[in-house]
Amino acid sequence: MNKRVFVTHQMPGERIHELSAHCDVNVWMGPGLLSATALREELEGCQGLICLLTDKVSAELVAAMPELEFVSSMSVGIDHIDCEALSARKIPLGHTPGVLVETTADTAFALMLAASRRVIEADHFIRQGNWTPENAWAPDFFTGKEVSGATLGIVGLGAIGQAMARRAAGFGMEVLAWNRSPRDVAGVESVALDELLARSDFVSVHVALAGETRKLLDAEKIGMMKSGAVLVNTARGGIVDEEALADALRAGDLYAAGIDVFESEPVQAENPLLSLPNVVVAPHIGSATMTTRARMADLAVDNALAALAGERMPHCFNP
Ligand code: DGY
Repeated sequence: MNKRVFVTHQMPGERIHELSAHCDVNVWMGPGLLSATALREELEGCQGLICLLTDKVSAELVAAMPELEFVSSMSVGIDHIDCEALSARKIPLGHTPGVLVETTADTAFALMLAASRRVIEADHFIRQGNWTPENAWAPDFFTGKEVSGATLGIVGLGAIGQAMARRAAGFGMEVLAWNRSPRDVAGVESVALDELLARSDFVSVHVALAGETRKLLDAEKIGMMKSGAVLVNTARGGIVDEEALADALRAGDLYAAGIDVFESEPVQAENPLLSLPNVVVAPHIGSATMTTRARMADLAVDNALAALAGERMPHCFNP
């Protein structure tokens, strides 16, 4: 009998079309996000799950699915999945590292530039009809913060952090990095996290969200940041204390922030960061190019195909 695989969203890419030759596939057609209840109902009796970062795969869900044999997420981050619950049953968890590295670093750099050079504020200024002869070009008109030659602190020197360092080199920036296990990367000075925060004009977050990185940048660490610095987060919202960040931005201790990820997504309208003009926000679009999303989907399907064939997934997160 064919194995049954539930796919929680329609997927881009090529490989998804091959899946039905290897199993019975049920794809959630929406509209909107799949609810926890619908995920539970649809996954009932399935051996495989291909999901997105918006699908919570909790220990309770795993326990309720005795037939589950593999999970493959179309994401590099796996913080939406209870990996321990899967590992305890030797259920492989696939994810999609590598393919979104450059795209995510592009987004981080774009947010850094947009926040420091006030691009969104300037856009709104024109569209709201404020660019008038009385309010025209002047020496201090829309002046921002210089990026070229400044110091960038990279929190997490994995593949995306290293891609960020390569971009920074092109802007003549001094690059510092903190990584839990220090890494030797040309042109990057390895420092302790507190030193990085004290010395960096720009801080960009590139660690995965896990127990030890949850609220890594809390009020105390944000308080250690250089006065007038800019914080960029394209990793996960839960790594930064949003209230403390908003306080520091409101007080003028920090110059600006570029935020692509929020502790709770979709972000609530009352999130304090949304009311601040010096915060550039985006709805978790770090990897959002058609090419990259297709590559991520292809990798997620490849992981699933390997599991269906009884082989090790090409990108298996758990041992
Ligand atoms: C991931 O894959 O974890 C990213 O956050 C998607 O952009």
